[in-house]
Amino acid sequence: MTEKLGEFIGMGVGPGPSGLITVKSLNALLKADKVLVPRAKGAKESVALTCVKDIDIPKEKIEFLDYPMSNDETLLHSIYRNIAGKIISDLRQNLNLVYITIGDPYVYSTYTYTVHALKELIPEIVITTYPGISSFQAIAAAMDFPLGIGKEKILILPCPETAEELKAQIENNDNIVLMKIGDRFDWVRKLLVEMDILANCVLGKRIGLDNEILTNDLMGLKVDEKPGYLSVLIIRGKPPVGRNGL
Ligand SMILES: C[S@@+](CC[C@H](N)C(=O)[O-])C[C@H]1O[C@@H](n2cnc3c(N)ncnc32)[C@H](O)[C@@H]1O
Repeated sequence: MTEKLGEFIGMGVGPGPSGLITVKSLNALLKADKVLVPRAKGAKESVALTCVKDIDIPKEKIEFLDYPMSNDETLLHSIYRNIAGKIISDLRQNLNLVYITIGDPYVYSTYTYTVHALKELIPEIVITTYPGISSFQAIAAAMDFPLGIGKEKILILPCPETAEELKAQIENNDNIVLMKIGDRFDWVRKLLVEMDILANCVLGKRIGLDNEILTNDLMGLKVDEKPGYLSVLIIRGKPPVGRNGL
């Protein structure tokens, strides 16, 4: 017999405290017994929580889940297991939980690993996921930047380690959504200048959050405005051509 559990819903929020959340997600968030909020271990704030700060969630319903920033697979696996264990013990008490995550839950998110760990512990667990607006959709909308026209290719790419790899990807695709740029921006920009395509690109830094930058003037960025972790760059290999001379 399948065990009776509370409901587990994962949902995308943000980017930014801007009401960019589905109606289904909002309803579930308002009804939840607990709101699970992922947070980088050691961080004081959670970006996901900032994204729902305009929504009235009683403080006592909020529970932080601390994820370490680590590449140690064994450590990460045991952390995800522990987190999944805590979630399951709440579900066994018939609590209805929502798990909020920035952008879309299945676009480069620790949500994926958490769901995997939940399924390892209870293979038949029912997971409900409501999609969110990804950071790259938000920058495209904010900058009136068509991501794909006609049959153009769009590649979503975590920033590679070398300019050669990135160059090859730009040459093989029409549009690149470059995520997780971190401290690689200087050589990325240099490559775009060398390829003479810098003018076709847009950058979103901390989209929807404080100190947001949305720009197509990548040369004009001041040192303290350079992309860090929360940045996404859309690179268009060629100026757009299509219907109506777009
Ligand atoms: C762990 S991934 C999360 C992606 C997220 N699930 C999404 O759909 O956008 C983190 C990367 O997402 C991008 N990102 C997420 N939120 C952002 C924001 N508010 N502004 C700019 N980039 C953001 C950055 O490229 C960052 O390196």
